[in-house]
Amino acid sequence: MKRIGVLTSGGDSPGMNAAIRAVVRCGIDRGMEVWGIERGYEGLLDGEIRPMERSSVGDILHRGGTILKTARSERFREDKWIDKAAEILDTFGIEGLVVIGGDGSLHGGLELSHRGITVMGLPGTIDNDLSYTDYTIGFDTAVSTVLDAISKIRDTSSAHDRTTVIEVMGRRCGDIALYSAVAGGAECVLLPEKKEDINAVCRKIIEGSNRGKLHSIIIKAEGTPTSGTELIKVIEERTGKETKLVVLSYLQRGGSPTLNDRMLATLCGAKAVELLAEGSESKAIGTADGQIVAYDLTEALEMPGRFSEELYKLIDTLSK
Ligand code: F6P
Repeated sequence: MKRIGVLTSGGDSPGMNAAIRAVVRCGIDRGMEVWGIERGYEGLLDGEIRPMERSSVGDILHRGGTILKTARSERFREDKWIDKAAEILDTFGIEGLVVIGGDGSLHGGLELSHRGITVMGLPGTIDNDLSYTDYTIGFDTAVSTVLDAISKIRDTSSAHDRTTVIEVMGRRCGDIALYSAVAGGAECVLLPEKKEDINAVCRKIIEGSNRGKLHSIIIKAEGTPTSGTELIKVIEERTGKETKLVVLSYLQRGGSPTLNDRMLATLCGAKAVELLAEGSESKAIGTADGQIVAYDLTEALEMPGRFSEELYKLIDTLSK
């Protein structure tokens, strides 16, 4: 394969730049031309495509965001625009495409693969919602950011004897909330994967307070039914404890990637180029049991969701 393309799509995640760097430098090392496509599928449809050099990716390894920019493309949901995108790639002589993004972005890549483009999907999202991989690029950094926030919020919550609900991102996946709650020592966690039980949360707060706990930290995933504002109202009414809401929002998407995210991004990027150079079929690349893995793209996207009941139960055990 002589010429390959790389794009980032959907919500940005820390480590996307590390992945771009690996794709560009490994590709050039194998004698390929690597073209960068800006603003994901939107930029592809608008022909925002340029050749990249080794120097194009200098000084980006440690930066959050994505130098290629990103977008959520409404047009790319329609067949006629996907056909158009495949045509544009063909016009530019790009035979292989590395797509760095979440579930929607990799499904977009799958559509392109049905139109003759070899696609390598890299899991670039803070949400950790791609079941074929243990971790996605950006998840570790996002959880580290949440943990830093929990520590700071705990100081002031404890000084004021308050309950604080911290709302975190993750769309329909509760992993950011689950891992933050375990590693951050939260009293309770509310996840989209579990039935919401506000009474259980209130009981936990009252029991903790009766044992002399000065504060309670509740982690709420954004995908749960009751809004944060409504939730703190109900908790305050039922526990009699002053309750505050902190929505961490886009803070979780920025920042310098952690070691884990840099390694995952770099190794997945290198693997994508290796597979393209070998003439492989389209794949989804990720990690399983500490190893880099590559699965058939269709099969990877059809893998059933996974949820760790063990981690969930552990939160309750540890916070008693
Ligand atoms: O998919 C990443 C994510 O940050 C989700 O956690 C969140 O629900 C969503 O993107 C926010 O999207 P936007 O940047 O379009 O507001």
